[in-house]
Amino acid sequence: MRIAVLASGGGSNLGALFTHFDDPRAAAVGSIVCVGSDKSDSGALVRARSRGVSALVISDHQDGVALRSLFHEHGVDLVVLAGYLKLLPAEIVSAWPGRVLNVHPALLPAFGGAGMYGSRVHTAVIASGARVSGATVHFVNEHYDRGAIAAQWPVPVYPRDTPADLASRVLQVEHRLLPLVAEAVCAGALSLGADGRVHGHMGLAPAHPVPPGVRFCLTENDLAPRASIDADTVDADSVARAAFAYDVARLYPR
Ligand code: GRF
Repeated sequence: MRIAVLASGGGSNLGALFTHFDDPRAAAVGSIVCVGSDKSDSGALVRARSRGVSALVISDHQDGVALRSLFHEHGVDLVVLAGYLKLLPAEIVSAWPGRVLNVHPALLPAFGGAGMYGSRVHTAVIASGARVSGATVHFVNEHYDRGAIAAQWPVPVYPRDTPADLASRVLQVEHRLLPLVAEAVCAGALSLGADGRVHGHMGLAPAHPVPPGVRFCLTENDLAPRASIDADTVDADSVARAAFAYDVARLYPR
């Protein structure tokens, strides 16, 4: 599938998508062909240009007809919202039914909706006293954060957390979960049915062997790849990504 990514900010999720689709297994089913942003100076567009990928400035985010033509020009099959803060025009949702994904930094349906983005989300989670938060990847419909949920992953909320602490812990999980869901949709393993429900599974076999003991858990220090990994064969980050895929496959069995 040919993927368009929309982002309003720095684009760290876009960076994670680029890295993931560099992997031969993911590259076999999907590639990022253009990146769009409502901010002409966004880090996301800088990342796209540095990769030689078409960088599109969206001057009028409500002009669905113009955006649709841009996507048609690039032969887009899948649209991924990675920190895109504008509501997607109906023309895009209807032209790519079941082919638009978004990542949200909380466990929807809680802490979502219009105005719920960035530190506001994490401030609300901490204020609520919730002890678990996380990332959600969902299919997009005409409402903010209300489309069918494709996958979620939890992170702990610690009593001493600031919104920034929680945001960074959730962002690390976003960087792992969003590319896996995008790949599963590209591979046809996961889809949004005409019944409005999510069908299929996330159980993509890990790209690399997962040595025992290297497991993706919830806390930061389990996100850091272990030095004990035989770095000669596989880079530590690939093993960490594979470990996460392994646990996602366990949580979302076929
Ligand atoms: C992410 O936390 C995403 O969930 C939210 O905005 C943030 C974007 O971060 N919608 P980045 O631009 O991908 O670094």
